[in-house]
Amino acid sequence: SIIVPSVQELVKEDMITAVPPRYVRSSQVDKAEVAVDSDLRNQIPIIDMSLLSSLDSEIDKLDFACKEWGFFQLVNHGMDSSFLEKFKSEIQDFFNLPMEEKKKLWQKPDEIEGFGQLFVVSEEQKLDWADMFLLTMQPVRLREAHLFPKLPLPFRDTLDKYSAEVKSITKFLLAKIAVALKIKPEEMEELFDDELGQRMRMNYYPPCPEPDKVIGLTPHSDSTGLTILLQVNDVDGLQIKKDGKWVTVKPLPNALVVNIGDILEIVTNGTYRSIEHRGVVNSEKERLSVATFHNTGLGKYIGPMKSIVERHKAAIFKSVTTEEYFNGLFSRELDGKAYLDVM
Ligand code: SIN
Ligand code: FE2
Repeated sequence: SIIVPSVQELVKEDMITAVPPRYVRSSQVDKAEVAVDSDLRNQIPIIDMSLLSSLDSEIDKLDFACKEWGFFQLVNHGMDSSFLEKFKSEIQDFFNLPMEEKKKLWQKPDEIEGFGQLFVVSEEQKLDWADMFLLTMQPVRLREAHLFPKLPLPFRDTLDKYSAEVKSITKFLLAKIAVALKIKPEEMEELFDDELGQRMRMNYYPPCPEPDKVIGLTPHSDSTGLTILLQVNDVDGLQIKKDGKWVTVKPLPNALVVNIGDILEIVTNGTYRSIEHRGVVNSEKERLSVATFHNTGLGKYIGPMKSIVERHKAAIFKSVTTEEYFNGLFSRELDGKAYLDVM
């Protein structure tokens, strides 16, 4: 990554009334229609995690959500709301640390972890109206020595606990996805075993004087297996592309927003879909979120599962190692679903 300034600082210091050219996207901002919020057909499915082990109909709902939407809200996931409230307030404090402290955790040239932006490969490129903080959380031995141990307490411990909880929710969901796909549980477990990779991306989107000229997060599909998103404050901004329109996601309080990433689209040979989504900003309120990405571990092959290829008679994606897959990814500018096209 190329080092970029903090958008949060830009807004704070300069009291700006116009967006600097580096963030203006008039040519690129997708003009697709935004769907009407009040239309209930435009809301992503809701899955009750506590019913997935006992009700076949909840598995059917999960299957439908993964096929038709690539997104769902997860309720009754077992993380208690007092813990989530604490985590959310600590994330806000983290982004409000003085710049002197944040600089110590800023991305260095050619690094992706830390504060900054991702997928920035040239000085000319347009930037997102947001700061993010990225770090590896699992497997624990792959945590960066210059990042995780330097995080302030009690935030560090809370993050550690959230990471473990979300990992176990993910493993549970992947097992239920295997049931929904009618594949052998081993086939999924082999791909996402205890060595599965987990990265967290915390997002801070400042208010913007000209919100229609910028984009908080470039339209993309997630490169991951499964992504679990926690909305940190009560401000909308995530939109997903559904039947050619942008649909605004309205998270229920303390629900998790789950989405299928490109890796699951590949391993299910296209049965489940990794949907394009973006982040938009507004002129009044800041927005914060935390996305937790789960990937196959190092050395695993990412390619269509054998049993599904047998069913479909042909593989529509090739097979590459996790390393090959991610090496290609971060050397590109983010561009919708374009990475899947080269797979
Ligand atoms: C967000 O909702 O702020 C980000 C979603 C994503 O990581 O794509
Ligand atoms: Fe995403």
